Amino acid sequence: MEMPAVYAARIGSQPDRSSIDRLLAYLPPDKQARIGRFRNFADAQRTLLAEIVVRNAIVGTTGTDNRSIRFDTNCYGKPYLKNSEYFNFNISHSGEWVVFVFGHCAVGIDVEQIGPIDISLAERYFSPLEYSSLMSHDPSDRIACFYDLWTLKESYVKAVGKGLSIPLDAFAILIGRDGIRMEGGGPERYFFRQYGIDAGYRLSVCSAKDEFPACPVLLNAEDECVSFIRHCQEGTGYG
Ligand SMILES: CC(C)(COP(=O)(O)OP(=O)(O)OC[C@H]1O[C@@H](n2cnc3c(N)ncnc32)[C@H](O)[C@@H]1OP(=O)(O)O)[C@@H](O)C(=O)NCCC(=O)NCCS
Repeated sequence: MEMPAVYAARIGSQPDRSSIDRLLAYLPPDKQARIGRFRNFADAQRTLLAEIVVRNAIVGTTGTDNRSIRFDTNCYGKPYLKNSEYFNFNISHSGEWVVFVFGHCAVGIDVEQIGPIDISLAERYFSPLEYSSLMSHDPSDRIACFYDLWTLKESYVKAVGKGLSIPLDAFAILIGRDGIRMEGGGPERYFFRQYGIDAGYRLSVCSAKDEFPACPVLLNAEDECVSFIRHCQEGTGYG
């Protein structure tokens, strides 16, 4: 795998209430407990589907059996696959979408459902350069532009792995005719790509290498659940 792979799955009706317990049985106890604690069913669905999509990719790419997959998190909460420096991944979920990127280098991804926002938030969170670029847009375009910048910024802090411990106004993302670039931030260079998966969402990916696929691979949520169960039944699962 030379360049990062980007996957997107729309939840739709899957995983549904009747398949959740079956799927959970093949996850380690801490993950079962975390998903079981969600009061909101959609949160449980999003987190479970993301877990399954990542596990399917690990099984398919590295040949590791589901039972042998071990994750850990860095001190800022970014999950990584233990004992595999070559499988870097990151996930994001919002509304009906679960998205995920994996590659050989540091990667981050963010999807956000576009919704009404108070544009003055941008003055608080964005750098002065980003804020003036946002305000230079026609008012009717500002919400979409806000989400472009928001997801790009989040994809960066997620690629670095430090999350929001990086002050969001400490670096600027500039979207120009010749591409997307960053000013400020740390000494390492990062690169960006945006994908259109749904008119109501913005999806941004950040990578330490300037190589991106032309478009995300669209996954079918039901197929992912079915192939995960099939793989687990061939093994013995966690039970
Ligand atoms: C990780 C973070 C940066 C993104 O969270 P988010 O946008 O709410 O959620 P996403 O769905 O995009 O990503 C969540 C996933 O990121 C991963 N993640 C968690 N910590 C991470 C970190 N430090 N670095 C990278 N990835 C991380 C996890 O896999 C998590 O999935 P899970 O919840 O199923 O375990 C989080 O720290 C956060 O709180 N964001 C707040 C958003 C905000 O205020 N943005 C303002 C921008 S203008």
